[in-house]
Amino acid sequence: RLTDDPSRPSYHVTPPANWLNDPNGLIHWNGRYHLFYQYNPAGPFHNTIHWGHAVSDDLVHWEDRPVALTPSPDGPDRDGCWSGCAVDNDGVPTVLYTGGRDKRQLPCIATAADDDLTAWDKDPDNPIIEELPAEPEVLRTEDWEGEFRDHCVWREDGTWYQLIGAGIEGGGGAALLYESADLRNWEYQGPILTGDRDTAGTVWECPELLDFGDRQLLHISNYEDVVYFLGTYSDGEFEVDRRGKLDHGDFYAPQSMWTDDGRILTWGWLPEARDVSGQWDAGWSGAMSLPRELSLADDGGLCQRPAPELTELRGDNTSYDVVRLDAGDTEQLPVESRSFELRAAVRLEDAEAVELSVLESPDGEKRTPIRYSYESEIAVDRSASSTDPQATGDTQSMRVQPYDAPLSLRVFVDGSVVEVFANERHCLTSRVYPTREDATGISLSAEGGRATVASLDVWELDSVW
Ligand code: FRU
Repeated sequence: RLTDDPSRPSYHVTPPANWLNDPNGLIHWNGRYHLFYQYNPAGPFHNTIHWGHAVSDDLVHWEDRPVALTPSPDGPDRDGCWSGCAVDNDGVPTVLYTGGRDKRQLPCIATAADDDLTAWDKDPDNPIIEELPAEPEVLRTEDWEGEFRDHCVWREDGTWYQLIGAGIEGGGGAALLYESADLRNWEYQGPILTGDRDTAGTVWECPELLDFGDRQLLHISNYEDVVYFLGTYSDGEFEVDRRGKLDHGDFYAPQSMWTDDGRILTWGWLPEARDVSGQWDAGWSGAMSLPRELSLADDGGLCQRPAPELTELRGDNTSYDVVRLDAGDTEQLPVESRSFELRAAVRLEDAEAVELSVLESPDGEKRTPIRYSYESEIAVDRSASSTDPQATGDTQSMRVQPYDAPLSLRVFVDGSVVEVFANERHCLTSRVYPTREDATGISLSAEGGRATVASLDVWELDSVW
């Protein structure tokens, strides 16, 4: 496990070295939590994807396990074992994933060969779906004979259902529904939802349907964003009543797991925001988000908060009842850290904005400001985060609810990750690469008026390995 790089997160899941993308096959099995992920053991770039594997007893501390799925030279997954999910088939842990071969994307199935889920038997009859659906016609590109991949599988009244992500010829993305009695013979039912390509991309990857009882959530990844649709799903149709983005920054292709006590926890891939040469130099690429608990608020909106289990990691604490800021004031916190959690309630009295600056050098030259403004926007400005020309310097932002309510803010800084939760609803994750060793300060300032920051806590967070 590479550790000497200050950009390496210590409490977000990362690959031991080399490449990671999507979370896969999340399952609680035999008392342990399993997180598989798209992994290239050969280097920090996307090629010949395997399934990497990490396990946890508490959803917080993780252990690396050997590679779980490897492309078979003669199999339909010769070019890669792409994203998929895990289900419990009456006591048999089973994964469905996409095999890549030549220009085809081929659904495959494998069953666990042991209770630790370290080895998997691929079904000799793979692929389990060979023909693309005829209607609507699946998008072909120069690279692919059909954009048709990724799997979300569930069981209802004894019948298995599966969503596969796709693109539609001449249209936008789609989540295609299949039905099966045995997880192996699948009958195509049609799309549960298709997108308008101007607003939701041309291909939907990694569709996932989550059930909140009387309402459902479908999220898809459209190469840029993770778009969610809230509404009702029944009889193969998804009726949308609102939509949004699960995260407004560097977050992609999430997947969820139900806990035994009935909560939905979601992890997403946090791609790098430095170029390929920067990833090559580092020897690793990609991290997982923290697990996020998804639920519905009384007003029908989506809530997202860090899994409560994460409070386990809290170490040294610095705490203030209230920090009062006048226009132009800067309050330096007595903490130096690159792996911490900050929690606060921010009120813009008559200020235009409050800035929480993290990863700040003592001379203030290097810093990553998280700016909350009266326009009800939170922006993470990366222009002064790094001197590394391989790193992105653009600003990422999101809208939050109106400024007169105090903003409840939780910020997780971890090496090169800045993961922001606002009002337990809106998320913005940014990757940043401070180059200076002394870029470890935290400060608060107000612009154009007075502001208060109440119930302010900073905790140093431990490593999870
Ligand atoms: C999403 C994705 C999936 C695919 C996998 C390949 O990031 O492109 O659609 O299965 O990654 O690694």
